[in-house]
Amino acid sequence: MANIFAILGGQWGDEGKGKFVDWAAKYFDVSARATGGNNAGHTVYVGEEKHIFHLIPSAITWKNVNCLLGNGMVIDPLVLLKEIHTLEQKGYTIDNLYISGRAHVILLYNKVLDKYKEKSKGKKKVGTTGRGIGPTYADKAYYTGIRINDLLDKELLQRKVSLHVWEKFGAFKKLHEDDDEMIMESLRQSLPEDSFFDRWREKLILLGNDVDLNQLTELFIDIYYNVGKLLKKYFVDTRLMLEQNIREGKSILLEGAQGLLLDVDHGTYPFVTSSNASLGGLKTGLGLPNIDLTFSVIKAYTTRVGEGPFPTELFDEMGDYLREKGGEFGSTTGRPRRCGWHDAVLTRHTALINGPKIVISKLDVLTGLENIKICNSYKYLGPKKVFNGEIYFSGKIIKDFPADGFLLEHCVPHEWVEMPGWDEDITRMKDYSDLPVNAQNYLNKIEELGNVEISLVSIGPEREQMIVMPGRWNLEVKQEKFAVENEVVTEPVVVAGEETFVAEELETEEASEIKAIIYDMDNTLVDTNGFVLDHLRRTAMKVCQETPFMIPTDEEIKFVQKRNLAFEDIFVSLFPDPGGYLRDEPLSSVILTRYREDAQEIPYVSTLGGIEIVNEMSFLGIVQGIVTNRVKMARHRLDQAGYGEFAFIVQPEEKEHRKPSPLCLNPALDYLQEKGISTKEIISVGDHPDDYLAAQGAGVKFIAVLTGESRKEDFVELGLDESMVVNNLGELKEKIK
Ligand code: GDP
Ligand code: IMO
Ligand code: MG
Repeated sequence: MANIFAILGGQWGDEGKGKFVDWAAKYFDVSARATGGNNAGHTVYVGEEKHIFHLIPSAITWKNVNCLLGNGMVIDPLVLLKEIHTLEQKGYTIDNLYISGRAHVILLYNKVLDKYKEKSKGKKKVGTTGRGIGPTYADKAYYTGIRINDLLDKELLQRKVSLHVWEKFGAFKKLHEDDDEMIMESLRQSLPEDSFFDRWREKLILLGNDVDLNQLTELFIDIYYNVGKLLKKYFVDTRLMLEQNIREGKSILLEGAQGLLLDVDHGTYPFVTSSNASLGGLKTGLGLPNIDLTFSVIKAYTTRVGEGPFPTELFDEMGDYLREKGGEFGSTTGRPRRCGWHDAVLTRHTALINGPKIVISKLDVLTGLENIKICNSYKYLGPKKVFNGEIYFSGKIIKDFPADGFLLEHCVPHEWVEMPGWDEDITRMKDYSDLPVNAQNYLNKIEELGNVEISLVSIGPEREQMIVMPGRWNLEVKQEKFAVENEVVTEPVVVAGEETFVAEELETEEASEIKAIIYDMDNTLVDTNGFVLDHLRRTAMKVCQETPFMIPTDEEIKFVQKRNLAFEDIFVSLFPDPGGYLRDEPLSSVILTRYREDAQEIPYVSTLGGIEIVNEMSFLGIVQGIVTNRVKMARHRLDQAGYGEFAFIVQPEEKEHRKPSPLCLNPALDYLQEKGISTKEIISVGDHPDDYLAAQGAGVKFIAVLTGESRKEDFVELGLDESMVVNNLGELKEKIK
């Protein structure tokens, strides 16, 4: 039977969910996030290496754990790309990530709107992370949201973005008294800091300081349609995937984001986030009927980042001490976290909604304190107020957490339970029985006052700094090896600062050799082989029904194809005019016209790994383009096969250059020269020996991909090094590296 376990935040977020998920991942096959977006910041240490995940599940470094982003999330695709590439830079292969096509997309303007709204609220602000979470969930609830799947449908995207732009930029103007310059500057700043996004930053700069809604719409389409293509390989129906995994008896670990007190229903509204950070959110956020066990992570003390009430907050030196010792600075925004004592009133509320099982984190931070306090009830000191049918009056003692921002603002700690501390270093202890007795007593008190059961205790940020409470965690390690981490394929690269994306470094690293790739279109990117033959045959049959003529056999067609003629000449060769056909038009041209008309209907597909490779290369900053004899048809085929934009698709001007020869590469070389890319920095990729000769003649490096009819020997005979022949595009990336 499948085990579905959930880890949730039990306080105001940042409790250590990421660390717990990373530790637990060895027991699971699948891990999933269900709610929130990149307002989350989950810190994980894998050995010496520190990761902060905002969108990607914290189990990603476990290669054999499939990581899902569920439909309940709001995803900023630019941030996701940055996160994927940061991991790739560190040497991880991200082929265990899956994204629900029904998750919602955070677009730049929603980030801007989030910040503007906060500003306009003055003292009443929530202290959001400014990541566009609220506005995006608002769009979702108001039926105008843009979903991940929409990124792949240009027309739909166009319609939805246009609507948003008119509506939201109207709001910006109101909030900012028509200060176009400020709006444009906010937009520019909202692009992630990374050279990969410079192309759009530059376009934004070119738009100047006037808000032009049409041009902005066009730019947003350009951005999001293109990032959609880059991320497309990760899109799936996560619900179906989970169902299948459950049927196969796989075990699933759900990673909550934020914390119960930030839950839009059960938290300290309005000082909350826009999603359900509680147990219920996991179910809708992934479409799960059941969750077997739920753990809420609760710190040994309490923290909060952002605005809103926090009864046990410490404003004295003790607060500063906990902040410093616990490293309490936001993983997402870097803001100092507000710190206070453990709050049993809060813990009871969490247990009520998420269940009684908890994980205590950061116990080690309390080591060295003489006394430690737990708050067990509050006193209400506000004006008289009726809430949920109960009368609140000044002096009222409160034992049940009032999940309401206003009431809680007027609550102060009433009953404190004070416990003696301990001095022993607990960070390397393995068992509960190793812990100092005062630490054990403290844990027992948390259980007793909070009506909870502690399953695990975290005693440091590293993966294995975890104590399992006796008999409270009985899952078997799933993986055959104890810890199969995500395969590190290259030497780890030192990343300068967590927030700096490394495309720049990627570019310079890769810039060593190759800056551009020229593809020969035919069989290299789009699988035309079978289609062309089949289609040619069917077109000929149709025309033959009107006026009979000899239809060439498959062998004859193949033979002519191999002669490496210009496309039109293939038809002339295959269909000699039987004489007097349709009087003024030769048979070959009739068939050619029909062929082209009908070709629109052919469902072309990418050759193995083609789309992924092209996307990855363009992400690495490699300029890619195509030389073809028929630009329009090439575009059509590429579109059908699902390819994104190429920097150029060019056709040799002279007809005699339209078969492989050094001259046929000229338009591509001219284009690249204009971009400052020299012949040495270009690689030509083709599948025909003549393509090799053409590249050789033009002085361009060449890689042969055996997707056509040619064999390895054909290239080697002509002098190409064996190592420059690959079987498919999937192998091309390795070669280019
Ligand atoms: P999350 O958002 O719930 O995943 O938590 P964050 O990653 O935002 O914040 C938790 C911080 O505490 C991170 O810096 C973790 O590395 C760190 N951490 C987690 N567990 C422990 C622990 O048991 N002891 C100590 N000292 N640090 C911990
Ligand atoms: P993890 O998953 C701590 C807080 C913000 C703000 C409020 C609303 O790392 O625990 P939003 O940007 O969501 O609209 O902001 O919620 N907040 C978090 N605080 N940890 C988080 O995530 C948080 N995600 C949101 O500070 O007060
Ligand atoms: Mg966090």
